[in-house]
Amino acid sequence: MKNFDNFNDYDRKENLHFDSQTVHGALGHDPFSGAVSFPIYQAATFRHRGLFESTGFDYSRLQNPTRQELERTMAILERGERAFAFTSGQAANAAVFDLLNPGDEVVLCDDIYGGTFRLGDSPLRKQNLTFTYVDMCDPANVEKAISAKTKMLFLETPTNPMMKVADISKIAEIAHAHGLIFVVDNTLMSPYFQKPLTLGADIVVHSGTKFIGGHHDVLAGIVVLKDKEYIDQIQKHLITYGSQLAPQDAWLLIRGLKTLHLRMERHSENAMKIANWLRTQDKVKKVYYAGFEDSQGYDIMKKQCTGFGGMLSFAVESADMVKKILKRVDLIYFAESLGGPETLITYPMTQTHESIPAEIRDALGITDCLLRLSAGLENADDLIADLDQAING
Ligand SMILES: Cc1ncc(COP(=O)(O)O)c(C=O)c1O
Repeated sequence: MKNFDNFNDYDRKENLHFDSQTVHGALGHDPFSGAVSFPIYQAATFRHRGLFESTGFDYSRLQNPTRQELERTMAILERGERAFAFTSGQAANAAVFDLLNPGDEVVLCDDIYGGTFRLGDSPLRKQNLTFTYVDMCDPANVEKAISAKTKMLFLETPTNPMMKVADISKIAEIAHAHGLIFVVDNTLMSPYFQKPLTLGADIVVHSGTKFIGGHHDVLAGIVVLKDKEYIDQIQKHLITYGSQLAPQDAWLLIRGLKTLHLRMERHSENAMKIANWLRTQDKVKKVYYAGFEDSQGYDIMKKQCTGFGGMLSFAVESADMVKKILKRVDLIYFAESLGGPETLITYPMTQTHESIPAEIRDALGITDCLLRLSAGLENADDLIADLDQAING
């Protein structure tokens, strides 16, 4: 029986399936009242019983019970030792790059989220860090790119927006043979479909704004780690820079996680139906979806993931056609972001990937004809009907 006044009386629920772990979290309930919705501990500071008699919570920049519940739950779901929750995915990535020293190099996948590119392009360049981009679909490219200065490999798989797939285990082998830190941005898959730490990654990052929060109502970032050395450094970064998630927002993520497994299944099912329909349309020139059997990384997806996710991109015949679609979509919202209940259509060229120089975008295929879609939780037939009237109407 649980000791009802102890925040440390939690277990990792290793005997439970993933979908029970999402629902029950770490402690699950409030240890004081038994409340089954973990309370929002909206407190900046905590009273001490006496000298050296802390409750374990001193000041919310250091510890907060609600944030701790979220962080413990994320560590369980991603199979890490420790997780930290940040104000945004950008803040989480900035903390990870803070593990590096001036003069170090990071090798990243070429089709990277625009905000991650922006971090390397300005603030971190000032610290004399080099960001090098390679196509990680072929591990040989990674091996070739590594120099004496390289200290970290950073991967998104599938990538956003081109849905390129890389083999996490193979890149982990390369990283460890060279003594490099291997980071995977797992935002698009969530731990429900892909657990990079079990495949050899050292660190997982998330924009918690997306599938983890799951409702388009909160900004958040998550870092999950295995090694004590990096855990200590990320904790120090968080305490020093003060970029930790606020209790209300942590609660929204705890709530989001309770339905992660159900949502991911529907996102994926809808994306598959929409991707298959788009492929039959004359005005659609190419569809990028990691769940197509003839797609570049299908075999790797089958090996390292348990589903294909809710994201796809497609190219239409002209920029005018893009304009028309974005004006006509109705049920589907023309908006930046992904991973929530409402299906969103995004124009990467002017939105998510605007920071990336035009020549790099063109080489990747992020042209003025490319649209990205985050399949939501609506009925797929309604979504297809909306796309049909927007494309063909
Ligand atoms: C793959 C990926 N990583 C990181 C981020 C940054 O996250 P945030 O917007 O929460 O700062 C995003 C945002 O779109 C993203 O798509």
